Amino acid sequence: MSLHNIRLEVMLTLEKNIETFVDKFLIAPEKIWQPTDFLPNSQSEDFLEEVKEIRGLSKEMNDDFWVVLVGDTITEEALPTYESWLLDVQGISQHQGENGGQDNGWAKWIRSWTGEENRHGDVLNKYLYLSGRVNMREVEITTQHLISDGFDIGTARDPYKNFVYTSFQELATYVSHNNVAKIARKNGHKMLAKMSKIIAGDEMRHHLAYTEFVRQIFQHDPSEMMLAFQHMMKHKIVMPAMHLRHSGEDKGSLFDQFSVVAQRAGVYTGFDYVDIIKKLNATWEIDKITGLTAEAEKARDYLMKLPERMYRITERIVIPDTKYNFKWMNPLT
Ligand SMILES: [Fe+2]
Ligand SMILES: [Fe+2]
Repeated sequence: MSLHNIRLEVMLTLEKNIETFVDKFLIAPEKIWQPTDFLPNSQSEDFLEEVKEIRGLSKEMNDDFWVVLVGDTITEEALPTYESWLLDVQGISQHQGENGGQDNGWAKWIRSWTGEENRHGDVLNKYLYLSGRVNMREVEITTQHLISDGFDIGTARDPYKNFVYTSFQELATYVSHNNVAKIARKNGHKMLAKMSKIIAGDEMRHHLAYTEFVRQIFQHDPSEMMLAFQHMMKHKIVMPAMHLRHSGEDKGSLFDQFSVVAQRAGVYTGFDYVDIIKKLNATWEIDKITGLTAEAEKARDYLMKLPERMYRITERIVIPDTKYNFKWMNPLT
């Protein structure tokens, strides 16, 4: 049997439990928080007062902070890219059956996950708008570019690689929203802190789901899963932020500057990247996996040594304190 078919078979096996996964890891629209719960109520007489308070507190936060929040928001707003990518993965099918009719279980998972994710960009976007601190038009242009450019996440249509990617990315977004929450709280910006914290909670739940999928794949197809994990780590995870650009600039032209700002704001650093790899190694207990081919054993060795190696490289990197001009922060004229 070809590798391709084994992957499909594993996906079919996991799909049998999709209802359980949805129940365990996702929350129905009526039960979960909605953006409105963390924003001023526009039907209330107090609305303008509450907006004023947000604008006052937002002045206290520095430009680096807002640049990072904008980048995080745009990353969330590029959700159409992730949904369309995932719906195209082997074993995930939105038109199963003779007449091209129905979603399979995996497609249902992706849609429900997308529904949850969509609230993140939604609430952040509204918050940025109310804050009065950023040029929304420039933010909107960057978002539109990111979605229309699209980007290659380096997983092809392989479910194993895709689930490594999502396991990684959900944890990375958890870290970054959680750090934003901490900074906001420290600066007395409670509403923003609460909002970022609750988004981080969703990301953690999603992270747990995708790591569970990978854990189960390891049980069915350990060597191929190990090789897929190694492949993703060798090529470094493609962050959506790598493709950010300002109006009138080239694709990806903003990333270096954005990455510097995210690191010095303490929202997402090179050390966070290394910690995530460490955490994935531990979660999947890759040191205990048996029945590996010689090639997969080598991949495991590579992965076990990777965090230490990357940590040493990261330590040597110096973060500049250059002041960059982000169009997102310019006054709207
Ligand atoms: Fe998200
Ligand atoms: Fe997420």
